[in-house]
Amino acid sequence: MDITEKRRNEDRIRELNIGLEKRVEERTAELQAANDQLKTAMAHLQQAQDELLRSEKLAALGSLVAGIAHELNTPIGNSLMVASTLGDHTKSIREGMSVGLRRADFEHYLADMDEAGEQLVHNLRRASELINSFKQVAVDQTSSQRREFGLAEVISEILLTLRPVTKKTPYVIDVDVPENVQMDSYPGPLGQVISNLVQNAILHGFDGGPKGKVLIQAHKLDDHQVELKVSDDGKGIPAAHMRRIFDPFFTTKLGQGGSGLGLNVVHTVVTGVLGGHISIESELGRGTLVTVVFPMVAPAAQSS
Ligand SMILES: Nc1ncnc2c1ncn2[C@@H]1O[C@H](COP(=O)(O)OP(=O)(O)O)[C@@H](O)[C@H]1O
Ligand SMILES: [Mg+2]
Repeated sequence: MDITEKRRNEDRIRELNIGLEKRVEERTAELQAANDQLKTAMAHLQQAQDELLRSEKLAALGSLVAGIAHELNTPIGNSLMVASTLGDHTKSIREGMSVGLRRADFEHYLADMDEAGEQLVHNLRRASELINSFKQVAVDQTSSQRREFGLAEVISEILLTLRPVTKKTPYVIDVDVPENVQMDSYPGPLGQVISNLVQNAILHGFDGGPKGKVLIQAHKLDDHQVELKVSDDGKGIPAAHMRRIFDPFFTTKLGQGGSGLGLNVVHTVVTGVLGGHISIESELGRGTLVTVVFPMVAPAAQSS
């Protein structure tokens, strides 16, 4: 190789190097810009997710209010009826008094009064019990407060709030939870989990079909943990969907009551505040089983 050729090669290499450096610089700047865009997008997504969670909470509160109205309707309607017949009877007794009242009529009236009084007390007591239990559920649902509670009692209160949804359907909801499970955890978020699972069984599992049964079971696994199972004998989930069901916005009922957020919220709550884990098994045409294992004493809250 002669000397001029050598020099020419060196020049070429230097040029290539300069070009390369420039390209790296450009690429770095591009990456930086892309990274900034991603960061903004992430922040937006986070904000959107927070908003969605809040709207889920609002929806839960809405159905709670509907539940209260629905359940109170019976005892208050009954009381109203008793009170108005009571008024009618009194009126006719007063009329009877002016024309001369038979003792038998008066005794009849007194017996009616006794029964009316008993019925009023019974129905109004029921109404007041309902209001008390709803007061607790409302506080739980809106504040996500930690407290000590009986698992069976809270589950039956949650189901009460679901009555307006379940009552209109032919589906059966069975509960098998022992009375002795004492929790120190978050009843509101637990309620969110159970309502979402039951609503999924109805909306997706039974899907408007003529019958279906949801079974809610819970028992102590050991001294520290509870196993909660929510199963249905509905349509099941196709194997191809199984990996995506916890993804936000994955829904097979877009525009038909689905948002795709339910199981995402369930997952977040179970693995977050409740400190547990969740698994779902399903067989097409046979049904779906959701198993949640979580501690009776929830982990200490992390500050966010
Ligand atoms: N019990 C169930 N039976 C059948 N499919 C279910 C059940 N639960 C969930 N799925 C499926 O998982 C999807 C995601 O559920 P979810 O996150 O609660 O969203 P959404 O209920 O809004 O559709 C549903 O759209 C449905 O396809
Ligand atoms: Mg759902």
